[in-house]
Formats: sequence, structure tokens, C-alpha cells
Amino acid sequence: MPLTELFLDHLKVRLAYAGQALAAHGFDTLVISSGAPYTHFADDQEAPFHTVPHFRHYCPITGPHHVLKLRPGKKPLLVRFAPEDFWYEQLPLGNPFWLAGFDLEEAPSLEAVWAAVGRPARATYIGNEPEPALAAGMEANPAGLTACLDWGRSYKTPYEVHCLEEATVRGAKGHMAGRQAFLAGASELEIHYAFVEAVECLESELAFPSIVAQNEKGATLHYENKRSFRKGQTLLLDCGARTLGYASDITRVTTAPGCDPRFKALVAGMERNQKALAAAVAPGVPFGDLHHLSHLKLAALLKEHGILDAGPEQAVDLGLTRPFYPHGLGHHLGIQVHDVAGKLAGPDGSFAPPPARHPTLRTTRTIEPGQVITIEPGCYFIPMLLQPFRENGQGQRFNWKLIDQLSPLGGIRIEDDVLVTATGSRNLTREQLQD
Ligand code: GLY
Ligand code: MN
Ligand code: MN
Repeated sequence: MPLTELFLDHLKVRLAYAGQALAAHGFDTLVISSGAPYTHFADDQEAPFHTVPHFRHYCPITGPHHVLKLRPGKKPLLVRFAPEDFWYEQLPLGNPFWLAGFDLEEAPSLEAVWAAVGRPARATYIGNEPEPALAAGMEANPAGLTACLDWGRSYKTPYEVHCLEEATVRGAKGHMAGRQAFLAGASELEIHYAFVEAVECLESELAFPSIVAQNEKGATLHYENKRSFRKGQTLLLDCGARTLGYASDITRVTTAPGCDPRFKALVAGMERNQKALAAAVAPGVPFGDLHHLSHLKLAALLKEHGILDAGPEQAVDLGLTRPFYPHGLGHHLGIQVHDVAGKLAGPDGSFAPPPARHPTLRTTRTIEPGQVITIEPGCYFIPMLLQPFRENGQGQRFNWKLIDQLSPLGGIRIEDDVLVTATGSRNLTREQLQD
């Protein structure tokens, strides 16, 4: 289907949902701004701009200070902030594929933007520029409505799936280039640039700061430094791209030919585990159950490789896998990399906390069609998490000699992005990147 049609269908679905949400919360109008940029303290420089995700859910236009005015049953109004400016480039709007979805007004100043919005009755505002909205009598960022809209973002339309697919295609290209650079002996910095070059974007346009970790740095979950030494033994590459604001989030581990075969065998085992977990994604499965299964599978792997001397159930019950795997199995993915609503029990905003034995779960939801989630089990050698086990009553179950030998190789995380379908799932990442 052409992109315009996909988008217009998406907008129709999203506006119908927003209309119901507004009615349920006693509002007639929703005003959302694309946002104000963050200016560094005591400086005149801004952080790379991130569009307010609620705005992006309805409109792909880029840049700050645009405003949407949504009213049930009416065509949405887009007030485009279009100042004349000789300091920064202001591109003309042109005729983008999504334009037919909106009535458009151009505003040369912030005052003109908000004059075009007016003072609608029973209106509410979402975004980070609340002052003009409050001055116009609107309620700003109401928690109940926001939670309801967050809940709706969990169910991706075909347009959103298309954007996520494209982000995956680009992310996969970056991963292939990054792996090739690593195998040719490149540094972390060079691998990062190989990724960015293959994705063809600015680094500020990646889905998140790239994680390019050689050797022991693979055990720092969000390692963002880029060292210049070459010829690492292991590479953990966690990087994603964006398309029309939607993110991919992909992790691969590659070992150099001379890497310790015991670590290579662990990587192969984690690859099998990860594929099995991704294949188990299906409607009706509580995500927490899959997370628990990922700990059981890790425990079995650690036993098989002589790292942990305990049966899987016993190891998980005693919390012995937690130091090796201290994060959740995955999260919702969309406009935000860690997408919203993972811990909501329903559109009313009620909270579904993670269970006590799995406190790091990022989503406690039951898996449903239309969701896109990551499946990213891990196995790391993290000294600060392992240290307490050397000294407590469980220490004799760990093979410390082997752990100390493998620790300089860091850790393993393998991450795919999975779309839940009516009957099962589609692994969007493996469609582009088999291993
Ligand atoms: N890239 C961050 C994560 O995988 O959640
Ligand atoms: Mn992730
Ligand atoms: Mn990731």
C-alpha cells in the first residue's frame, strides 16, 4: 500500500482512539506540541532535538514548536512553526506524504502558533511547552488521559509496522558493517562510524547512543565510550536506527577467530536460547513468564558450561542467575526505544508492578497482537554483581576460576525486535539479519 494511504489509515485509527480517550476524560480538544528543545544550562547550545512522542504519534513533521489541535470528528489542524531565520536553516515544507491528513496553518512566531490554536473550550495540552497552553485556559499533561494515550501506543498500526520494518532494515545494514569492521580489527570508534555510515544518518539521529563494547566493556550494559584500541576478542554491538521517528534496537555479539572457545560456546548457547525465546512470543503469553523462562534457560546453560553448579529451578529460586543477567528480557518498542505502557494494567493507567523475584522487568503486560517487543536475554561477567556471591553462602556453586578467565571477554546480549501477530509473531530483525 502507498505510504500516504498507510499513513492516512493510521491517522484515522489514532484519531478515533484519541476521541474516545478525550470523551472518557471529559475533554473536547487535545493540543499537542512537538516540543521545545533543551538548552544546556548557562549556554546557548541545544541538545539534539527529540520530538514529543505523543506529537510524533500523529504527525511525522520534524522540528520544534509545531502544534497539533485534535478534535473528534474534525480534520486535525497542524500549526507549523516556520520562522524566517538566517542563523539556522529552515527548510520549506514541500509536499510530504502525510500532508493530506491535516489542515495546515503556517506561523512565523511562537505568538502566531498559539494565536492559531486559540482558546478552545474543555481543552487539554500535552507537551513540554505548557505556559502558552495554561495561559489559554488548558489543563496541561493530565495523568489519566496521558496514560490512556500511552496504552494505545502499544498497538502498532500497519503504518507504524512499516516504519519499524524500515528502521530494522537500516539497523541491520549498520550491524553488518559494524561486524565487518570488527572482524577487520577496527577500534570501537571505527566500528561506530562504520555503523553510522551504513545507516546513512547523523549519529544524533540513531535510535539511541550506540553501544560498541569490545572485551570487558561488554559487561557494562549501556557502555557509550568509544575506545581507540584495535583487534578486540569480542564485540557487543547494541545499536539501532530510526525511520520517521520509529526505532530499531538490535544487539549482536561477534567473536574474533582467536577468541577463547569456551566463550564462543557460550555465545552459541545464548543464540539458541534467544531464538527459542523469540519464537515463543505469541498472544496470551504473559511477558513475565517468558522472562522467567529466560532465566531458567540461562541457568541450564551456565550449568552445561560448568560455570554454576545448580539445577535450573534451584538456581533461579536462589537468585543465582541474577548477577549474570540483571536486566529484563525486553521492552516495548516504538517511537521511544523503551516504549511506554510496559507496566500499565490497562488504559485507566493502573500500575502493574514487576514481581518481587524479577524486579528489573520493563514490561509486565500480557503479549497481544500489534505489540512490538524486544527479546534480549543476556549473560555477563559483571564484577560488582558477582563479588557478593564470592563471599556469601552460595559461593561454592560458582566456578570462580572459569569466571575470572572469561570476565575479560565481557558479556553477551542478543536482541531482536518482534512483532506480535494474531496467531504468533514475526521476528522483524531476523528477517534482515539471520545471525
Ligand atoms: N539499547 C538499549 C536496550 O537494549 O534496551
Ligand atoms: Mn532493548
Ligand atoms: Mn538494545
